[in-house]
Parts: sequence; structure tokens; C-alpha cells
Amino acid sequence: MISVPKPVTVRVPAKVNLYLGVGSADFTGYHDLATVFQSVSIFDEVTIKEAPELKITVSGLNSTQIPLDSSNLVWRAAQLFAQACGVDPNISIHIEKKIPIAAGMAGGSADAAATLVACEAFWKSEIPRDQLDAMAAALGADVPFMLHGGCALGTGRGDVLAPIMTRGHYYWVFATFNQGLSTPSVFAMSDALRRDEVVQTPEVPAEVLQALSQGDARALGRHLHNDLQSAAIALQPRLQDVLDYGRESGALGAIVSGSGPTCAFLVADESTSIDLVVALMSSGLVDNALRAHGPVHGPRVIQAID
Ligand code: C5P
Repeated sequence: MISVPKPVTVRVPAKVNLYLGVGSADFTGYHDLATVFQSVSIFDEVTIKEAPELKITVSGLNSTQIPLDSSNLVWRAAQLFAQACGVDPNISIHIEKKIPIAAGMAGGSADAAATLVACEAFWKSEIPRDQLDAMAAALGADVPFMLHGGCALGTGRGDVLAPIMTRGHYYWVFATFNQGLSTPSVFAMSDALRRDEVVQTPEVPAEVLQALSQGDARALGRHLHNDLQSAAIALQPRLQDVLDYGRESGALGAIVSGSGPTCAFLVADESTSIDLVVALMSSGLVDNALRAHGPVHGPRVIQAID
């Protein structure tokens, strides 16, 4: 009797860039980055089941915006994995979305990383870690970090990872918007804004790494930085008001998350995070406000029926 693989569910967190330094673009159009990623506790769930052919379904907030065909990174992740194992990707993939979409929190990359982990458990295939990392890098610049999680330094396109020493537990509030921003257009705007400047090779400042190694949220708050922030604000000017409002309401630091438009506020503790969510929601400046903490671990199988 042929045994049918059992459904597998993987939970995967979002990310925020604590520091995002952007250099110049290479001939492929990708920019040289120096960034510090941290995984935060807003999770998508990806479930894989046996099916007649590859199929994607999505549920959750704003999920109608997500493509269900081969333009979805999840589709390409499943195909890439199946090809490496020599199987047909006859699976259905359901994505339960909690990570805001087109928001600068790497939701699509998170789902692709979760799909790789789910495929590995579903087909019980032991792919060497470096091969899985190479698949992740082929899917997108953020996918290698989303496969690992925790906290890491990213260089190259953001896909060359190195571990960093981090202590402590950081409390966040994320202000989100129903209208997303396209990552390529934010990078293009950033290039346009800097066209008369000599763009330096990006480097993560020692102060950021020191704050993390000491678990010093106040120092980290002072040194949060994102080179894409002015481009995101140029495309959605109200983000400046949101960042100012968060700082005035007690955040230790405020930045646009990744390519935006989500605004990330580092706060001192849980009770401040509750107060800030209430303040942001009543300000009328944002569509939603979410609490989270980090760092959290990367994608994990949470259900595999044996
Ligand atoms: O790799 P990924 O598909 O996630 O990247 C999305 C877009 O973001 C790229 O097409 C590119 O426009 C931009 N990008 C970049 N430099 C990076 C990473 C992403 O210009 N290092």
C-alpha cells in the first residue's frame, strides 16, 4: 500500500530591520545592504496537504491581495523543493495570514521559507542545510533570514547571514496600513533621492551591535535606522506624522520597517506597548496597530500528523 504523506503546518514569524544601510545597486539592480534582522512575534501559518496538483489558498487579513498562481513565492518554493527531491509538487498550500501584506515585514518571504520547511517535513526529505539556504537565496533576498529567524547580521543583498550576540527581550508596536508599498519602487525612490550623493558602502554601526549585546533597549532605540525611510515617506508622506506621533507617545525609537509602510516602535515594556496601541488607534493616523516581541525563533513545524 502506498502511504499518503500527512498534512504539515509550519508557523513562521515576521521580521523588522533594526538597522538597514543601503549601498549602491549592482548590475542586476540589487543593492548592497548592511542590516540587522530581528524576528518578531507576528506569525503566518503554512499548511501543506496532498492534492491532485499544486494549489494555493489564503485566509486572513487583506488576503484577497495575494496571488494564488506561480507569481506567489510560495509556489516557486514548492516547485524548487520538489525538483530538488525528484517528486511532483502535488500539494495544496494554505497560508493563514497574520503578517501584514506588502508592509516591509517580509511576509511573502516568510511564507516561502515556511513552505521549504513544510516540504521538508511533508516529504520527509533530508536536504542538507546549505542546499536549503541556497534555495532560500534563489527565492529572494530576505528568504535566507526568514528560514533562520532570531537575530542576524545580513550583508550582500541581505542574504549573507552572520550570527550576532543579542541579549534581552524587546517590545514592539507596529503601525500598519491597508495600502502597501512595492519594495522595488521604494528602492527606486531611494536611488532617485540620492542621485547627487556619493553612496558609501553600508556598515552596521558598532553602537547597534553593542546595544544588542548588552540588552539595552534604550540605546537600541536611539540607534534604530533605516536608509529606505526617506523614500518610503516620499511615497507615503503621512508616515512622518505617524513616526513623530509614536515618539511623542513614549516610544524609545521609531523607524519605518524595511521598505515600509509599516512603522515600528520600540518600547520599554509591555504596558507601554498597550498604551501606544491605544494611542495610535485613536489618533486616526493608522489602519491598525499590533503588539509583538522579539527576537523569536524561525519557522517551526507545529503540526505533523503521524
Ligand atoms: O529579493 P526580493 O524579490 O525580495 O527583492 C524585491 C526587490 O527589492 C528587488 O526586485 C529589488 O528591486 C529590491 N532589492 C534591492 N536590493 C536588495 C534587496 C531587494 O534592490 N538587496
